[in-house]
Amino acid sequence: MIRKKSIGILSRKTSYDIWIGENLLKKNNDYLASILADKKIAIISDKNVHSCQYSNLLDQISDLALNPYLLLIEPGETSKSWKVLKKILEWLTKLNFDKTDYILAFGGGVVGDLVSLAASLFRRGINLIQIPTTFLSQVDSSVGGKTAINSGSAKNSIGTFYHPKVVFCDLSFLSTLSDRVFLAGYAEVLKMALVFDKGFYKYLIENQKLTLLRDKSILMHIIDKSLELKSKIVEIDETEQGDRALLNFGHTFGHALESYFDYSEKLFHGEAVSLGMVLATLFSNEKGYISDHELKEIRDHLNMMTLPTEATQIHNGKIDVVKLLSFMKQDKKVVGDNINLILLKDIGNGFIKRNVSFQKLEKFLQLQLS
Ligand SMILES: NC(=O)c1ccc[n+]([C@@H]2O[C@H](COP(=O)([O-])OP(=O)(O)OC[C@H]3O[C@@H](n4cnc5c(N)ncnc54)[C@H](O)[C@@H]3O)[C@@H](O)[C@H]2O)c1
Repeated sequence: MIRKKSIGILSRKTSYDIWIGENLLKKNNDYLASILADKKIAIISDKNVHSCQYSNLLDQISDLALNPYLLLIEPGETSKSWKVLKKILEWLTKLNFDKTDYILAFGGGVVGDLVSLAASLFRRGINLIQIPTTFLSQVDSSVGGKTAINSGSAKNSIGTFYHPKVVFCDLSFLSTLSDRVFLAGYAEVLKMALVFDKGFYKYLIENQKLTLLRDKSILMHIIDKSLELKSKIVEIDETEQGDRALLNFGHTFGHALESYFDYSEKLFHGEAVSLGMVLATLFSNEKGYISDHELKEIRDHLNMMTLPTEATQIHNGKIDVVKLLSFMKQDKKVVGDNINLILLKDIGNGFIKRNVSFQKLEKFLQLQLS
């Protein structure tokens, strides 16, 4: 079972293919041979992915006799840093790569965001192939062209828009994911459904048990549908001048929580998004938008998927709301003393609420978190 979709970036008059299925690199050997012939190839990955899945990758490309160079970074969000970015750029320079050569970003969202930023900067843009290995990176981050590192406590504050030549969402790479990392990715799936598509939300509810069991045909459909929803938005609004901002549902609160916990393993990105979505839904409800019933449904579903819904599940003590707000103030959606938030009118119907005052937000967060 293989699916292939194409995403067109209207503003750049370009498009690229996204493959979804199993053993996709093997099945695309002819294509890979045609684009990689006579090129230098760099595979950049993290140490966990290397120990769990590198042999699978090598098996799939073994007939191509590629002799890739390999660079491994430390796993985790703290690698999205100036230091690691510099290391990658200097490594490529030392190996004399030119822009017609290829970089393969082999890993989760951290590797994908970091390596695609390096690819966009190196010689003002070297060829990039995304091979995402987490559920999160297959349903979301490998597609759409956002690249990033964090600068200090400001999450994703340094970045570019840069697209890969092709994306391979190969389900065989997901087999070694821990349940916790797998489910963190599910938060981004639910985000897509909550903001854009009630039908997809119903499908997720109906199939929650099979998703927890990682049923392959269900995962294929979820990846396919999530990328369809994401592609539709990115195609018309690559640089987030309008509706692409809806994809940030849960992220303004979530990013601030990630910074609050120093990007540590206490809270993975997807888990922060889960908490952020609960806060954004509570705020939507308080402002008279989404109903009590739908608010409860969303919370129950996140609990069922074992994603966090209360900050106390991460941290027993009180959350310092003033400190949390100081991180929120670094968000790109801040306008003066106000911020634009993504809220829900109801399930499947997200919207941008402009100019929410930090004063109101502080009151709300004090009530919810302390
Ligand atoms: N660019 C975008 O549009 C976009 C969208 C959403 C999220 N993101 C970013 O994605 C990042 C989170 O991505 P993530 O959740 O994939 O985290 P991650 O890349 O840190 O991966 C999570 C953990 O799983 C390990 N891992 C990865 N693949 C594995 C495998 N196949 N088997 C075993 N272990 C494996 C990693 O080593 C890591 O320890 C965040 O930095 C977030 O900001 C970007």
